[in-house]
Amino acid sequence: MKLRCLRARPAAALLLLALAACGGGGGGNDGPLPTFDTSAVAAADPGSPLPADWRSGVFAEIFVRAYKDSDGDGIGDLRGLTAQLDYLRDLGVSGLWLMPVMPSQDGDHGYAVTDYRTIEPRYGSLADFDELLRQAHARGIGVVIDYVMNHSAAQHPAFVNSRDSSANPWRDWYVWQPSKPGGWNVFGADPWHNAGNGYYYYGAFWDQMPDFNLKNAAVVGWHHDNLRFWLNRGVDGFRFDAVGNLVENGPSAWESQPQNYVLMDQVRQLAGGYAQRYVVCESPANPIPFATACGAAFAFGHQFDVINAAKGDTAAVQAVAGYFATAPLGMATFASNHDSFAGQRLWDQLGGDQARYRMAAATTLLQPGTPFIYYGEEIGMAGAASLTGDPKLRTPMSWSGTAAGFTSGTPFRAVSANIATQNVAAQQADPNSLLNYYKALISLRRSLPSLSQGSYAAGSAAGTLLTFQRVAGGERSVVVINYGTAPATATVGGLPAGTVLANAFPPSGTDLSTDAGGTLSVPVPAQSVRVLVLRS
Ligand code: NOJ
Repeated sequence: MKLRCLRARPAAALLLLALAACGGGGGGNDGPLPTFDTSAVAAADPGSPLPADWRSGVFAEIFVRAYKDSDGDGIGDLRGLTAQLDYLRDLGVSGLWLMPVMPSQDGDHGYAVTDYRTIEPRYGSLADFDELLRQAHARGIGVVIDYVMNHSAAQHPAFVNSRDSSANPWRDWYVWQPSKPGGWNVFGADPWHNAGNGYYYYGAFWDQMPDFNLKNAAVVGWHHDNLRFWLNRGVDGFRFDAVGNLVENGPSAWESQPQNYVLMDQVRQLAGGYAQRYVVCESPANPIPFATACGAAFAFGHQFDVINAAKGDTAAVQAVAGYFATAPLGMATFASNHDSFAGQRLWDQLGGDQARYRMAAATTLLQPGTPFIYYGEEIGMAGAASLTGDPKLRTPMSWSGTAAGFTSGTPFRAVSANIATQNVAAQQADPNSLLNYYKALISLRRSLPSLSQGSYAAGSAAGTLLTFQRVAGGERSVVVINYGTAPATATVGGLPAGTVLANAFPPSGTDLSTDAGGTLSVPVPAQSVRVLVLRS
């Protein structure tokens, strides 16, 4: 059959032939154009083997490249991560967010995806991924993967085709203009990039990350097929990258456009057609509106209040007390993540002050929300002394006092500055370590439905003293956090008169009773936490 190079997208069955026929057709690409998988994927839910409450637990954010190397090439991989699942189970997490695991052009963080339906070869294979899922599920741990809908890599076959010529069937999968549009400034830079063929394409983050045209229903449909590809394999959900950037309507209308919420609502419904899946979105600019569209979103901004509260800043304590008075209880909370715009590693932000570190951890683990621990946060990993920017935050996991705990080869990146003291092996051996503090609080949270799933009530700040209550069914937890450097006594009113509240944390604490007026006085040592429980 003779095919013409059409502007319109050919029927799917003709696609590969059409691409071959059009290769080199006016765009400077002399060889055959690359192909990729556009086959439709129907929903086929394998079900969920996870406990019904897995989504109300604590998650760990894992950078696979930096977590554990199983084959000595200096790069972390899926088999390495699978081998560490017992550690994560013992930490108490019930979910993992894996930063991108698909093949990428950037060869590092993975957000420049070149193939949406397989695994980055340096991380392993689809079979390794299936085994990771199986092993995680066997431990009651769900696995959520990063999904980048906003942009692909410039080397993705769809963009290679799109760039090839204005007549290419994939042209309209990306955002093109015949001349450079003026007046744009996205994150401090011009997002229009010269393709060198007389046209300009839009890429909000990097010229090697062209934005998809998500006004094109075919692109959205293909993303939905990709999502079903992973959901059908049993993946437990997604972290959606950059949802504020999905659609552009003009130089003053490129962020959090109305269409973005519609797109994420569709995705939430797609995932909702599968059993017990979880979707969480990244929108630093508009986290709360996206929490509704997506089902959950990261609580950007709140982390700085938590960290400043831990430093004893009374205005921040006030802000922390008020946050969940209005924010959805399902906000995904965190102290820091893999992006430096969200803050340095918690250790570095707190100058290695472990008392403050514990207060920040306790706040995140006892307030509502779904807490996400950035890998190594639980042992106080610092950034790399020799690095700056994002790479500083993305160092190999400090399993032991040297890089040998991560790899038998040469690590792909410098290790954390404090690996000699803040490492897993040392902290497992020390009952008073940060690691054991995290474990104790996560275990407490898991043991009390009021903490893991309860509502938020009576949030109040008095100087550096924070009190709040969490309520689920007949269980009420009273939480008091003293960020100050002197002992203090919290006064909590409105409780039943003459009633005993059972001590829940710390283990050395004692039960306390309310007075005849229903007021509880809670003495709290400096920089410490108390949790008491009332059951009706
Ligand atoms: C946000 C991600 O967190 C960041 O690491 C990435 O570079 C950008 N989105 C672009 O994908």
